[in-house]
Amino acid sequence: MQYDLIIKNGEVVTSQNTFSADIGVSNGKIVDIGMLDGAQTREVYDAKGKYVFPGFIDEHVHSRDPGLTHKEDFTHLTQSAAAGGVTTVIEMPNTVPPVSDEASFYSKVEHLSPKAFVDFALLGMVLGDLNTKKLQAMADAGVVGFKLFWGYYLNPKTLELVYNPSKGDDVLPPPDDGQIFDAFHTIGQTGKAVCIHAENSAVISRMVEIEKNKGKTDYLSFLSSRPSFTEALTIQTGITIANAAGAHLHILHIAAGEGVDLVAEARNKGMKVTGETCPHYLTLTDQDYPRAGVNMKIYPPIREASHQDRLWQGVQQGHIQAIGSDHAPHTEEEKVGDIWNVPAGATGVQTIVPVMLDSVAKGKITLNQLASLLSEAPARIWGLYGKKGVIQPNADADFTIVDMNATMTIRKDDLLSKSQVTPYDGLTMKGAPVASFIRGRQVMSDGKLVGERIGEFVKPVGKSEYKW
Ligand code: DOR
Ligand code: ZN
Repeated sequence: MQYDLIIKNGEVVTSQNTFSADIGVSNGKIVDIGMLDGAQTREVYDAKGKYVFPGFIDEHVHSRDPGLTHKEDFTHLTQSAAAGGVTTVIEMPNTVPPVSDEASFYSKVEHLSPKAFVDFALLGMVLGDLNTKKLQAMADAGVVGFKLFWGYYLNPKTLELVYNPSKGDDVLPPPDDGQIFDAFHTIGQTGKAVCIHAENSAVISRMVEIEKNKGKTDYLSFLSSRPSFTEALTIQTGITIANAAGAHLHILHIAAGEGVDLVAEARNKGMKVTGETCPHYLTLTDQDYPRAGVNMKIYPPIREASHQDRLWQGVQQGHIQAIGSDHAPHTEEEKVGDIWNVPAGATGVQTIVPVMLDSVAKGKITLNQLASLLSEAPARIWGLYGKKGVIQPNADADFTIVDMNATMTIRKDDLLSKSQVTPYDGLTMKGAPVASFIRGRQVMSDGKLVGERIGEFVKPVGKSEYKW
């Protein structure tokens, strides 16, 4: 057998176990896993002393492309992903225009494909009665699932998120529960998951007014304007509606401890519910504000240590299945101002892997749990498992090679994103992604891009999974 590539001498890490093996690759696919001494091959990557993971999938990125490319574009986003050891990204639909029907789906695939440095999949936007009748066609066309920005008012013309609405603004409120039931029922029929931004915008907009009128701009006032019960309220409503509608609900960026309790309870009752949290909720708290400032203004907000403790328990006990970066770029100029006026969001696609490896080094999770949180689970939730998310014959030969002896200091100037907004500037992480491969082709070496641009659009290969 003549291989195109052999990854040799590495420690292969799956969600179940870690073992020494070589991996033989042909035509972009894994063909053999075992000892391949003396085998014929065109190329060899020596992974001695390193860990070989199934390529990491960032299930939660915002490219701003098309429509908001002063903040970011797909070229820079996917270059940043590749530099950070991510091999596939799942792109959120809130671009201008959003992905809200079959036509906008196809034009976004066409628009992004020539810019992709890593593989990518797309989500469709849920807009209630505005597009419930168009959801099935998007599912048939190839979205991996759907997203409802439940916590946001939208610009009625562009359908952009409105980060800091004020009384009297001309904004579109989230769809009401009846519209959401219809949309979730339709999505349940497609066999795909629907993910939600879970914050109750009606309560929050009143609490923001109260806090702003106190004239303070400290982080505690910001936290008081988005208390954890406003996450729990929408999570509970979502679980109830999705269960009645027969849809798989995936709750994004859980920041409140109560969110873990609600997901655990629903899963114990056998409901089709999964959860995601982000590195910034697991590794930062309100106490980081003096250092990070408004670069850590993100929705839902980074909360107090007690919430972080509950989130870690949720991850360690399997109540939270996936980690996504919520890469939400803004320009540094846009992030100049006080906590009430700047937009929410920070970059994360180039830092998600080193930050989570540092958590492994700190003993928070094992390498096997990381393989699940950052590769297997996102693949299963979004119907990509078997093509992505696993090291087994016939899967895409996507690998992230990790050196746990390396350290790396995150510097905003090293970020390849158009935005240098990060709450991690200057922090040093233990463990680093040192190489990555997509369909058998090396795309990153020691944080630098190598080879040609080879990213491509991927369609789901199966139904969404909520337990496995
Ligand atoms: O902080 C955030 N920014 N949270 C979100 O849910 C959306 C994101 C964005 O797109 O800017
Ligand atoms: Zn997001």
